[in-house]
Amino acid sequence: MCGIVGYVGDGNALEVLTTGLSGLEYRGYDSAGVALGNGRLAVYKRAGELAELEDTLEDVDADGVRVGIGHTRWSTHGPPTDANAHPHTDAAGRVAVVHNGIIENYAALREELSAAGVAFESDTDTEVVPHLIARNLERGMAPERAFRAAIGRLEGSYAIAATVAGSEVVHAARKESPLVIGLGEGATYLASDVPAFIEFTDRVIYLEDDQFARLDAGGAVVADADGAVLDPPVDTIEWDPEDAGKSGYDHYMLKEINEQPSALRDCLRGRIDGLEGSVHLEELAGLEPSGPIQLVACGTSYHAALFAAGMFRRRGIHADAFIASEYHADRLPVDADTLVVGVTQSGETADTMRALREANRAGARTLAVTNVVGSSAARECDRTLYIRAGPEIGVAATKTFASQQLALALVVAELTGSSHGLVDELRDVPDAVQTVLDTSRASEVADAYVDADAYFFIGRGYQYPVALEGALKMKEITYRHAEGFAAGELKHGPLALVTEETPVFALVTGEGELARKTVGNVKEVEARGAPVVAVSDGRTEVDRYADELLSVPEIGEIGAAVAANVQLQLVSYWVANSLGRSIDRPRNLAKSVTVE
Ligand code: G6P
Repeated sequence: MCGIVGYVGDGNALEVLTTGLSGLEYRGYDSAGVALGNGRLAVYKRAGELAELEDTLEDVDADGVRVGIGHTRWSTHGPPTDANAHPHTDAAGRVAVVHNGIIENYAALREELSAAGVAFESDTDTEVVPHLIARNLERGMAPERAFRAAIGRLEGSYAIAATVAGSEVVHAARKESPLVIGLGEGATYLASDVPAFIEFTDRVIYLEDDQFARLDAGGAVVADADGAVLDPPVDTIEWDPEDAGKSGYDHYMLKEINEQPSALRDCLRGRIDGLEGSVHLEELAGLEPSGPIQLVACGTSYHAALFAAGMFRRRGIHADAFIASEYHADRLPVDADTLVVGVTQSGETADTMRALREANRAGARTLAVTNVVGSSAARECDRTLYIRAGPEIGVAATKTFASQQLALALVVAELTGSSHGLVDELRDVPDAVQTVLDTSRASEVADAYVDADAYFFIGRGYQYPVALEGALKMKEITYRHAEGFAAGELKHGPLALVTEETPVFALVTGEGELARKTVGNVKEVEARGAPVVAVSDGRTEVDRYADELLSVPEIGEIGAAVAANVQLQLVSYWVANSLGRSIDRPRNLAKSVTVE
């Protein structure tokens, strides 16, 4: 879960690289570095946020430097120190390398290199790579061959970029970690993700697993593992560069919360027919379930998966949601009749990818529901449905959760042939979310309870995953204790934690049995003196027992779950804001977690 960048061109390499790294900080931000090629390589790297590196670079004269690579790190091997920051080099400083992923056989390679007299400067797995390349150069190999031969020794996952002193070339290789090439005029870019160079070019090539690329100022040559030159498709990114900025909001998270109505409209666009009341997802043609459905996901995406499993079950289809790290195809009934759905914003989460690979090996059919075009999940699965939320920079997932909820509702409608009735409901969701954004009292509620001991969230049915998600959001960005419970479980234990200092957020929408029972649970909480914040559409008498009210419009039960979650996102945001937290980049967390 690191970000890598590379550049060769007629511009100022250092400026392009630091711009790129700031666009990738969401991938990791505990240390950063660059290597600039100008005859010989100059490497600058610092522990800490990118600003630390930028301070160091202030006095560096990089005029005329046309090639370089850079890295922003989220530690996996060795603590975040200057020495462990990338790029890593060989002893002579002839080769510089940046890497995202894990080299599983690094210990054996390190032993072999140490025995040959190589002295290591860092604790990282990555450092074996520049030493391997340097040895190949010493043996007389040309840089490209030396790079390919070194990569051939690696086991594990990687996106790697390297540059060799004296050449205006960046070499790249990919296996199970993302890498995308940007094609500019007189300049070629490389990055883990498009936001790194979107302000310079929108023409991209997604590198596939086991492919290599050689970048110079004139473009990129992509080849397979055997060296055969390929003709990969060039895609055009439709994001506006503005989309990758904060557009006037104090935080990406708040911007992304406010983007939800348009993200949801994009998700639905061309996929529902309001007149016919039907859903059309060409992506899913031929996938009708002939057996059980298993959804695999992590974090926020797992809550969307739980939500979807509930929707399938309500329509008579056997469906289960699994935390991806707890999914083991060899311990489950999985066969060709099983449909395994990977729900993953990034499409790169290691736990989810492993689960999907296992499912594929077990013969299941697989569907990725992801936000990132060309991501590993999209490549791994038989089919892919994009949620179309656009780039999400805040580490805490917000708009992508809402888009997952809606995209998965479309999947359920399509696969169960039950679009009738659902289409009208789904079509109203973007407006309902806009109403919440326009009228929310979340900042007042946050002010009232900013000093609470803990926060509890309860819900039933479709509001149960929302309760879990509300608590996760609160933990992630406020660092306060928060828990989500099935409302009916409260009395089986958690009620012992409820005091006057622990506000309970109760999600009560609709007027059915589940809503009425949740009102009963609210009374239990109220009787114990806990403040109650009702997230309500006003269709039950819960408002009477609540100290505070967060309203959602009267809408169907799927839309109510999307809208209620938006209120909880806003409460967490405003609590975190009052506490002065690092909202977009919470401590210890990363947006894309590519280790198990
Ligand atoms: C990380 C992020 C979470 C996210 C989870 C799954 O832990 O911090 O916000 O929900 O990964 O990510 P995915 O990209 O698979 O949805």
